[in-house]
Amino acid sequence: MAGPYTGRASIPGLPGPRPSKLQCIAIALLFLIIVVGLIILIFWLIVRPTSIDYTVEHAAIQKFNISSANELDAAFNLTLRAINPNRKVSVYYDDVKISVWYDNQMIALTETSPFFQPHRNITRLDIKAVTNSTQLQDQVAKDLQHDKSSGHIGLEVRVRARIRFKVGVVKSKHYKLRAYCTPVNVGFAPNSATSFNRVYCDVEI
Ligand SMILES: *[C@@H]1O[C@H](CO)[C@@H](O)[C@H](O)[C@H]1NC(C)=O
Ligand SMILES: *[C@@H]1O[C@H](CO)[C@@H](O)[C@H](O)[C@H]1NC(C)=O
Ligand SMILES: *[C@@H]1O[C@H](CO)[C@@H](O)[C@H](O)[C@H]1NC(C)=O
Ligand SMILES: *[C@@H]1O[C@H](CO)[C@@H](O)[C@H](O)[C@H]1NC(C)=O
Repeated sequence: MAGPYTGRASIPGLPGPRPSKLQCIAIALLFLIIVVGLIILIFWLIVRPTSIDYTVEHAAIQKFNISSANELDAAFNLTLRAINPNRKVSVYYDDVKISVWYDNQMIALTETSPFFQPHRNITRLDIKAVTNSTQLQDQVAKDLQHDKSSGHIGLEVRVRARIRFKVGVVKSKHYKLRAYCTPVNVGFAPNSATSFNRVYCDVEI
């Protein structure tokens, strides 16, 4: 390793000049960095974290009404899947909020209770997002009415969660998870939900 010594010639066979205090500290630091790096590398190789995935499996409209004052009463049934493909990493979901958006306006928001997701697990979340008398922006109300008359509406479902990872007995700090699922096309016809196409979400952690 080229380093602090290259400038100093020492006679072969004889001990070189004693390293100064500063050099000792530098070598110790370098050694420490290498050891920590190796630990992280080994940890990563054993754990091999891959990302969490989300899908929307099902969505249905249970109630939907826009008043003349552009107030929305609605209830959506949503089925989400949280997919943890990791072999060694499990996940604590401490705070999970699910929102429904249309045209950049949030039209429903709900929470699920905290849960623990083991490694290699798929957790199904059955969610009911209800909204009472939500004041819609004029354009949003217009677009929603228009879409409704066409038989279905294109929604965006978002998940926001505070999560911690667990590997063995080690728990990580909190991370923010965000999932964006779009387009979630929900039909008004009673049988439209049976033909729902699975939506894969973009997940950011
Ligand atoms: C929505 O879910 C409720 C139960 O939470 C169920 O009774 C209802 O039939 C569902 N509606 C639709 C349209 O799937
Ligand atoms: C929808 O809202 C209007 C105005 O608020 C109300 O008159 C009507 O009864 C509601 N319809 C349903 C199905 O809730
Ligand atoms: C995932 O974990 C939950 C909670 O521990 C459990 O109820 C569910 O059956 C698991 N699912 C699979 C596919 O292992
Ligand atoms: C919405 O209104 C219904 C009754 O119309 C009520 O049962 C429900 O608790 C209300 N939900 C919210 C989130 O306010």
